[in-house]
Amino acid sequence: MEVRVQNIRKEFGRFPALEDVSLDIRSGELIALLGPSGSGKTTLLRLVAGLESPTEGMIFFGEQDASRKSVQERNIGFVFQHYALFRHMTVLDNVSFGLKVRPSNRRPPAAEIRRRALDLIDLVQLSGLEKRYPGQLSGGQRQRVALARAMAVEPNVLLLDEPFGALDAQVRKELRKWLREIHDRTGHTTIFVTHDQEEALELADRVVVMSKGAIEQVGTPDEIYDHPVSPFVYGFIGQSNCLNVTLANGEIWFEDRPIGLRAANEPDGTATLYFRPHDIELIDGCGGCLAGLVTASRRVAGTRHLELDLGRAHPSVEIELPPERATSTDHTRVAFRPTKWKLFRKEEKRGAAQQRVETPAAELARTGT
Ligand SMILES: Nc1ncnc2c1ncn2[C@@H]1O[C@H](COP(=O)(O)OP(=O)(O)O)[C@@H](O)[C@H]1O
Ligand SMILES: [Mg+2]
Repeated sequence: MEVRVQNIRKEFGRFPALEDVSLDIRSGELIALLGPSGSGKTTLLRLVAGLESPTEGMIFFGEQDASRKSVQERNIGFVFQHYALFRHMTVLDNVSFGLKVRPSNRRPPAAEIRRRALDLIDLVQLSGLEKRYPGQLSGGQRQRVALARAMAVEPNVLLLDEPFGALDAQVRKELRKWLREIHDRTGHTTIFVTHDQEEALELADRVVVMSKGAIEQVGTPDEIYDHPVSPFVYGFIGQSNCLNVTLANGEIWFEDRPIGLRAANEPDGTATLYFRPHDIELIDGCGGCLAGLVTASRRVAGTRHLELDLGRAHPSVEIELPPERATSTDHTRVAFRPTKWKLFRKEEKRGAAQQRVETPAAELARTGT
């Protein structure tokens, strides 16, 4: 089911946990809410569920205003980080629970409930374990039971709040793939909360990046990674470098020299240049480029990471090269130029960043190609 969040504001006391948040979630979509701790992800999820009511704004399920509907009326499936399975119930009883407690006029017959629960246990690959108790399962298995239980009521929306947060890295990765497969088979509209960017980018159809109670950017994983619209998103997703630069006559200057990057039509003044470690080219005998002394060199899987010192007044810059390209030892001078980059002006605040999401024509920042 389609879910529309419209101009939601949520205050706790006088503290705004969410400020004017709007979001359209498509039917059948797996959408990830991604942001640091305290950015408002859980609050948004609880508002969709009906566990909290908004201070301002509305929530629609399909065409219907759900803002005043109860949790039960919204028919939500929930999975939390700390599995809330019933410890005294078997796997089968846990999965059947939501259907068994329905009022008699909406409750399927017992045999039907059992069949549905067994189908779901099969779907989450726990066949044979239906008589076990939660205490006899691993953390990953318990979360799979929790997901089966959430899906048993045929929810309008599945809400997953850091469901793999308490599990170790290897299990998380497996469950991530597995959840995507389950989603592709069942097609539930799903909102998945995580603070783990890798999890969000790998799993979701679209990612909603949140910071300080507001949405910074909504987009496909590719859009979010390749075209971050704000310094926050650039810094939060993947690795990035930022340098203070100056613009003069459409050219980008670093300290006292132009660095061979043009930003035509950009007004003169100061700005911050963002680029990713792998979006660079090495330059021989640098006339107009960036250059720094190697202070550290690390081999990370298939690439080499060099840390460069560009001068005391600047943060160190990291670049990534094929391992055979960089045999440099400490304090070798390396000259390079970003191949993909973006400028942000100092005066830009979040309001400006949000505006750019809605009206790309008004985009202030310029992207290099
Ligand atoms: N019940 C509550 N009472 C008071 N403040 C709350 C409550 N729930 C959340 N908050 C505050 O709202 C902000 C957003 O919290 P939350 O939605 O849990 O963030 P996230 O899930 O992204 O970590 C935080 O500053 C948090 O302290
Ligand atoms: Mg949370």
